[in-house]
Amino acid sequence: MDYKLIDGKATAAQIKQELAAEVEKIKAEGGKIPHLAAILVGHDGGSETYVANKVRTCEEIGFKSSLIRFEADVTEEELLRKVDELNNNPDVDGFIVQLPLPKHISEQKIIEAIDYRKDVDGFHPINVGRMSIGLPCFVSATPAGIIELIRRYGIETQGKHCVVLGRSNIVGKPMASLLMQKAYPGDCTVTVCHSRSTNLAEMCRQADIIIVALGVPEFLKGDMVKEGAVVIDVGTTRVPDATRKSGFRLSGDVKFDEVAPKCSYISPVPGGVGPMTIISLMRNTLLAGKKAIYAE
Ligand code: GUN
Repeated sequence: MDYKLIDGKATAAQIKQELAAEVEKIKAEGGKIPHLAAILVGHDGGSETYVANKVRTCEEIGFKSSLIRFEADVTEEELLRKVDELNNNPDVDGFIVQLPLPKHISEQKIIEAIDYRKDVDGFHPINVGRMSIGLPCFVSATPAGIIELIRRYGIETQGKHCVVLGRSNIVGKPMASLLMQKAYPGDCTVTVCHSRSTNLAEMCRQADIIIVALGVPEFLKGDMVKEGAVVIDVGTTRVPDATRKSGFRLSGDVKFDEVAPKCSYISPVPGGVGPMTIISLMRNTLLAGKKAIYAE
């Protein structure tokens, strides 16, 4: 089959321009420029890169951004104090705490301390709950980005069997929830498979749409995919690569060369879901700045 590549990089670049135009409009009308703050704890390579990209994208769009750093030995109390400070800072429209956090800090406790009206990551239980019943809320960035790709590529979803591989709170669960929503994109029959599933390959072979978010490089093989399927690859694992200056490359969860020829649409890694994740956070920041979801 002649597959179409889902170009997340190009789509994200287009949305970036749309967001920048909105910021220009806000400026021209004398409104408040959206302000995103990011808390980064420690020096994990992946987290450093993600946060640097988020800050850079804010600048490119015209948002205000603040990066707040702590060393890995920061206490939970110190971090909670900072969250409280940002909750109460009227200049900050939205903020994120980059995950993962060091083991001695409860991620859940930190997430629940964030004012849900500033929770542009959409991780707070109020946002998760509102999403699951279809109410306005901040939707977490990766699933929101995937939904936007499906929409902009006009991929049919109604009545389709969608298999989500992975059950994380950040991707798998919200993805399943959004795809079963009475909406477009949505109206899917959704199956969620995970590391304890016994019939995962069989489920995948029945899928019209497969979203792979396991974090296992090249997990999805050609013989697990039906002819004409849509495959979205959420994997971004760093694998050693001596030919790269950085010493690594990003590997997706899909064995692309085997799977792509069977697909109608497939998203690559890099250049697929990744750029959309960042842009969705930016969109949430704009919505937070405009108080478009939660009035004060
Ligand atoms: N770690 C991996 N993905 C994310 C994300 O979307 N937001 C935050 N805060 N941390 C992450």
